[in-house]
Amino acid sequence: MFIVFEGIDGTGKSTQVNLLAEALRAQGREVITSKEPTDGPHGSRLRDSAETGRLSPQEELDLFHLDRKEHVESLIKPALARDAVVILDRYFFSTMAYQGIRGFDPLEIRKTNEEFAPLPDFVFVLELNLDTALDRIGVRDGQANEFEQREALQQCHNIFASLEDDFVHRIDAGQTPEKVHQDVKEILSI
Ligand code: TYD
Repeated sequence: MFIVFEGIDGTGKSTQVNLLAEALRAQGREVITSKEPTDGPHGSRLRDSAETGRLSPQEELDLFHLDRKEHVESLIKPALARDAVVILDRYFFSTMAYQGIRGFDPLEIRKTNEEFAPLPDFVFVLELNLDTALDRIGVRDGQANEFEQREALQQCHNIFASLEDDFVHRIDAGQTPEKVHQDVKEILSI
């Protein structure tokens, strides 16, 4: 089983990854959790660029794809092959959203990714109102930075909202973490 949590920054994805992993482990399943960008060389370059100056849109897109290819080959595919549950904090839907707003066509990004990245069985999109998300990530300062971040997150939200696949489930992330977790378990029937 391959499960992905998506959503804009501040929606509590990593908390849900951990709660779900614990619940499945308690049922005796082998569970592998991971995140993108990864801690590998490409992922680290992407994280560093947040501080050392942002990369060009093309460089950034290329690095997310390199990072994901490595992730798929070294961790995701082997784990699925031995029937472990894989739970990710972000996957290529984040590339559609975040690189989509830097000028690339989200559907083209998806096509490129589907050539090398397996489709998940479940994608949980955690949805949260923008003010709450901005509060949680600490950028409600009324400065230009807040305006920019708000615009960017709104556009990412819109791209996540446009996903129409059967495996995509939207959950209200404004609820308590426990309630969000309950909703996830209900959808998974566990
Ligand atoms: P995030 O999940 O916020 O990690 P952390 O909390 O550890 O910093 O992810 C870092 C950023 O990477 C986030 O703003 C979204 C961005 N991102 C992309 O732009 N494209 C992608 O394909 C992925 C996976 C993430």
